[in-house]
Amino acid sequence: MTQPVIRVNLPQDPYEIAIASDGLDRLGSWMKSLDLGKKAMLVSNPTVFDRYGKRAIAALEAAGFEASHYLFPDGEEYKTFDSVRGFYDAALNEKLERSSTVVALGGGVVGDMTGFAAATWLRGIHFVQVPTSLLAMVDASIGGKTGVNHPQGKNLIGAFYQPRLVLIDPNVLKTLPDREFRAGMAEVIKYGVIWDAELFGQLESAAKLDRLDQLSPELLQEILVRSCQAKADVVSRDEKEAGLRAILNYGHTIGHAVESLTGYTELLHGEAVGIGMVAASRLAVAMDLWDRRCDDRQLALIEKTGLPTRIPQGVDFDAIVAKLQTDKKVKDGRVRFVLPTEIGRATISDRITEDLVRSALETMC
Ligand code: NAD
Ligand code: GLY
Repeated sequence: MTQPVIRVNLPQDPYEIAIASDGLDRLGSWMKSLDLGKKAMLVSNPTVFDRYGKRAIAALEAAGFEASHYLFPDGEEYKTFDSVRGFYDAALNEKLERSSTVVALGGGVVGDMTGFAAATWLRGIHFVQVPTSLLAMVDASIGGKTGVNHPQGKNLIGAFYQPRLVLIDPNVLKTLPDREFRAGMAEVIKYGVIWDAELFGQLESAAKLDRLDQLSPELLQEILVRSCQAKADVVSRDEKEAGLRAILNYGHTIGHAVESLTGYTELLHGEAVGIGMVAASRLAVAMDLWDRRCDDRQLALIEKTGLPTRIPQGVDFDAIVAKLQTDKKVKDGRVRFVLPTEIGRATISDRITEDLVRSALETMC
């Protein structure tokens, strides 16, 4: 199979996303070709490091890098400033210089925290993403949104800071828990709905989508290439979310509200996005923006992936409506929804009333 390379065409900081089976073993040589200094610090958590850390370090050393590592505990609750502080201590200890490189090896939590730490250490040192969860491969590792959580809210502290390279080794997905795989698939379905009708069709044609081992290697490659290309296309046109990039938030408005109201413990981020996409699709039908058949097709895909499609029991509609007002995307007091218009296209609307939201949610109990 080919080893695709996708370019993120940013005027200031262009970079490549390389998708390569066993690419982990070529991490060092890839980085060397980009002239990324002599020292490299790998950042990861024990879950991922125990499985892939040795190979990554060996690849760095084989290419001549002086390699060290910093680990912080696994879990969203450790995407905090304390973990960044721990990184600063390790960076000081290892005498990382401006020309040194930080490598994030892990899911979106590791990538987001590491990117922020790299953006701020010595006012910015080189940063490489080696995403190991499906969600991080197709979304979090691309586009330069980095950050950590504040006790009052997710991702409140952060910076736009682009990596110098994203290296995706699909083989590491074999150890990803099935539930995490499905959560990543929610973002893949998102790209199919808002950007890439052909991807949507390929997902519809697949017999099963709820486990990695049910996907052919060819379909997995298509999923990775097309999703990364979609994200690269959008980010290249609107790096700092002045307009177009907001469509990547499809499913995230109601999704975030439900995620937050269930205490960030009941649902994975991707599961909440799946629920949010069902809600946004119902709103689009109510606004006559897209037809019921498209709503059914999207629902069938989400169900085939084994993602939840209903509002979890105990989550109150009033609480969802109230929570929407605290969404980061609220502008001049109006909630902005990303709504699909046809398979592969979406628009942004701030004309959604509370009544429309309630009616959409009523269809999802
Ligand atoms: P995660 O980083 O918590 O990873 C999920 C779990 O899978 C963790 O326990 C992790 O250790 C484990 N894991 C990862 N790779 C593995 C592998 N190959 N084998 C075995 N276990 C593995 O969660 P996530 O879904 O990857 O990322 C979610 C985070 O990403 C959230 O904090 C979210 O805010 C952020 N995010 C950021 C962006 C962005 O643009 N920066 C976009 C989407 C999400
Ligand atoms: N995950 C949304 C974005 O990167 O803009």
